[in-house]
Order: sequence, then C-alpha cells, then structure tokens
Amino acid sequence: MSVPRPAAVIVLAAGEGTRMKSKTPKILHELCGRTLVDHMLTAARGLEPERLIVVIGHERERVGAHLAQTSPDAQTVVQAEQKGTGHAVRVVLEAVGAVDGTVLVTYGDTPMLRTGTLAGLLERHAQDGNAVTVLTAEVPDPHGYGRIIRDAGGAVLEIVEEKDATPEQRAIKEMNSGVYAFDGALLADAVKRVSASNAQGEEYLTDVLSILREDGHRVGAHVAADYVEVEGVNDRVQLAFARKVLNSRLLEEHMRAGVTVIDPDSTWVDVEVTLERDVVIHPGTQLHGRTTVAEGAEVGPACTLTDTVVGEGAVVRNAVCVEAEIGPEAVVGPYAYLRPGSVLGRKAKAGTYVEMKNARVGEGSKVPHLTYVGDATLGAGVNIGASSVFVNYDGVNKHHTTVGDHAFVGCDTMLVAPVNIGDGAYTAAGSVIDSDVPPGAIGVARARQRNIEGWTVRKRPGTKSAQAAQRAAEAGDQQGSTSE
Ligand code: UD1
Ligand code: CA
Repeated sequence: MSVPRPAAVIVLAAGEGTRMKSKTPKILHELCGRTLVDHMLTAARGLEPERLIVVIGHERERVGAHLAQTSPDAQTVVQAEQKGTGHAVRVVLEAVGAVDGTVLVTYGDTPMLRTGTLAGLLERHAQDGNAVTVLTAEVPDPHGYGRIIRDAGGAVLEIVEEKDATPEQRAIKEMNSGVYAFDGALLADAVKRVSASNAQGEEYLTDVLSILREDGHRVGAHVAADYVEVEGVNDRVQLAFARKVLNSRLLEEHMRAGVTVIDPDSTWVDVEVTLERDVVIHPGTQLHGRTTVAEGAEVGPACTLTDTVVGEGAVVRNAVCVEAEIGPEAVVGPYAYLRPGSVLGRKAKAGTYVEMKNARVGEGSKVPHLTYVGDATLGAGVNIGASSVFVNYDGVNKHHTTVGDHAFVGCDTMLVAPVNIGDGAYTAAGSVIDSDVPPGAIGVARARQRNIEGWTVRKRPGTKSAQAAQRAAEAGDQQGSTSE
C-alpha cells in the first residue's frame, strides 16, 4: 500500500477533560507507559508527516513542557480559548499559514488509533480525490457523537452533532470519529467560514464538510474496520478500557514473537518493554518502562519490574525491581526488592526477603535469605549468611563495603561501612564487623559465650522452663547412674 505522506498532522488537545476529575491534564494521563497524547503522536509519526502540530490550551505550560520532552519533533500552537474544533484548526492555520497538501486532523485523547487505520484514511482520501475524507465507525451506542448523514446513494452530506440532531438523526449508528484528511488549501479557506450558530455556540470543524460539499468539492468517508480504535478517553473508566486494549495488543505481539504469557489478563506491559524468545511471564506481573527480558528468562508470578534488565535464563519470582540488572541465569526472589543500581552477575542470587541497593554482586555470589545489601561491591563466589546487614548509613552519610572473591560472611553479620572483607576471608556468625578483615582471615567480633549452670531453676522457679530443666537434669542423672 502506498500512502502519500501528509503535509501535516494536527492533533487537537486544547480541551480540559473535566470528566477525568484530575489535577493532571487529561492528555497527560498514562497508559502502558506513555501518555494519551504521546500514543496519538506515535501513531501519527508512523505516517511520516512533514509537520506534526499539537493544539494546546488548557494547562498549556505543563502540557507544552511535557511535549518538549517527549516529542521535540512536534510543534505546539496555543488556542487560548476553546471555542470549538473548527476554531482550533483555524487558530493553527492562522499561526502556521495554509498548508499545501494533505492535512490530517485528529485528537490527543484517542490512544487506540493505529497508524494503519490513519493510513487507510489517507489512501481512501487520495484514491477518491476528495477535498475531505472523514474517518467514521459504526458503533453500538453512538450517544454523544456527531452522526454521519448520507444521502440515499450513500454519499456523505454532513455531520450533525448529538445536541443539534433530530430524533431520526440520533438513531444513526455511524459516528464521526473526529479524524479527517483534508486538502490543506481548501481547509484553510473553509475553516474561516464556519459559524458558531449551533446548540453549543462553537465553531464546529464538522461544518467544513458541508461547506466544501456546497462548494462542489468531493466529500468522502472511510469506515474504520474496528470501531474500538476511534473511541476516545474522557473518563477513568474509558482510560482503563483503553489500557486493557493496548496491553492486549502488546501482549499479542510478544506472544506471536515467541513469548509465553501464562495469563494475559493479569500481565501488564509498557510499550517500550522488550521480551526475547522463550521468555515466560507468569501471572500477576507488570513490566514497566524500558524493562528488557532476555531469552529463556522466567519472570513472575507477581513481579513488578521497572527499567530492569533481566539476563538470559534468569528466574525472577515475587520481586519488585527498579533500575536493576539481573545477570544471565541469576535467581531473584521469591520476595526480593532490588532497588536502583543493583547489579547481579551471572548465576548470582538475591533470595528471599533480600533487599539491595547500589550493589554489585559478582558471578555466582549468593545472598539467599533475609539480608540488606546497600552500597556494596561483592566479588565472585561470595556467600552472605542469612540475616546479615550491610550497615551503610551512619545517620548522615552513606558508606561503601567491599567483599572479596569467595569470602564467606557468617549469618547475622553486621558489616559496618566503610569496611573491606578480603578475598577468601570469613566472618563469624553474629559479628559486628567494623574493621577490615584481611584476605584469608576470619573476623570474629562477638562476646565469648559463658553458661551459668542451674540459672533457670534458681531464677525462674515453678515455670514450665524450670520444670523442663529439672526433668532434663534428672534424666541426665539416671543416664549417668545406669552407665556407671
Ligand atoms: C467532536 C465532534 C463529533 C465527534 C467527536 C468524536 C465536533 C463539533 N464534533 O465532538 O462530531 O463525534 O468529536 O469524539 O467537532 N478541542 C480543542 N479545542 C476546542 C475544542 C476541542 O482542542 O476548542 C479538542 C479537545 O481537546 C478534544 C477534541 O478537540 O480532544 C474534541 O473536542 P470535544 O469537545 O470533545 O468534541 P466532541 O464534543 O466530543
Ligand atoms: Ca470528545
């Protein structure tokens, strides 16, 4: 299919979106890791337009700043007062001048619209030599939309808004999506002639169709194959619906590319997530941002990964990971929290109830249970005993700990940073280590044990503990006497 490049795409996004009931402007609400308006811009970019223009108004500083960041290729035009869709387009053309060639107009709140559907509209527009072609859809419930009025032969006559429609017109199920391909020069002229004498006192862009038709130009329509695509987002119910639709599309692409998704209904992925072949995603998993999962890795159940890299064949279960790097064949969880800067080498392990932050864990090193590793560098083949803490914070500053290759940190060791544990060194269980342990040495930093005989019976007389102690003492005596 050869689709002519549009001269411009104009995205109308000046409205307030009151039904979102939000401090955040409607078009900046996110779904699948991208805002509403950026979804539309991404679809528009697929057409390679010569110019990309966004009409902003409500909260224009915030929206403008956002677009400057995410879409520097888009030009913004301010519509200070929202006096209708026709007014919005007029404001653009007054600001940038008439555009020669095809102008595509669309909205900032239709994130489900695909490039392919827009291309279909452009193709029809070019093939039929229309002055304007409107994208329409047959919907089960057209309430609130403009209706497409056709003559007996099926030619498009005009678009009538719900509020201006007769009961017969309201019964029409073919709705105006609000997306159009226009001849730029004809649009520039016609949009100046749109009046505001209608139920809402607005300049309707829809009126351009009847104006052009009355001028003797060809007016056409292209019916979208899937009406869901043209549905906009006006409230949070529709936002959730659109998110579900986009998420299913993304998952479908991943599955077709060789990813196993055990439960698509409870799996959520952002647009920029990459998953290689033979990845398995278990239920209840959310992959956000630029998370990448390499071949054969398993993620889930119940994982939330943000901007995290998972290496080949790694296994990540019941974990929350943010800006972490999990090496090939490494194991994470169940119940682990990897915070930014956690880097696990090949076959490393961050096990159950383990939290890490800014920590490099070398190849094959294991942190299996109940441990906090913060601000640390661990060599290869290290073992960190259960219940150990890298004591990195003195209340004012954070300090670093290094643990050498094949070091063995005993259970319940407090490593008070800054401190270094040498290659092949050990620490005794229960030690508070605040000085370096040289390579090959064992650091013992705990009180020596002493037992006070008969303490329970003397100090806790009559308790079950004392009775148990007494029974043990008697059994011991008997054993002692029989063996004599
Ligand atoms: C519009 C169409 C209607 C169509 C529907 C599809 C008109 C007159 N009606 O109605 O036929 O079925 O869209 O959703 O065009 N906007 C601006 N500036 C304005 C007014 C609107 O930028 O002055 C933007 C809004 O931010 C929004 C879009 O244009 O993204 C649509 O505006 P809205 O007021 O929602 O139009 P509808 O009444 O829904
Ligand atoms: Ca609307």
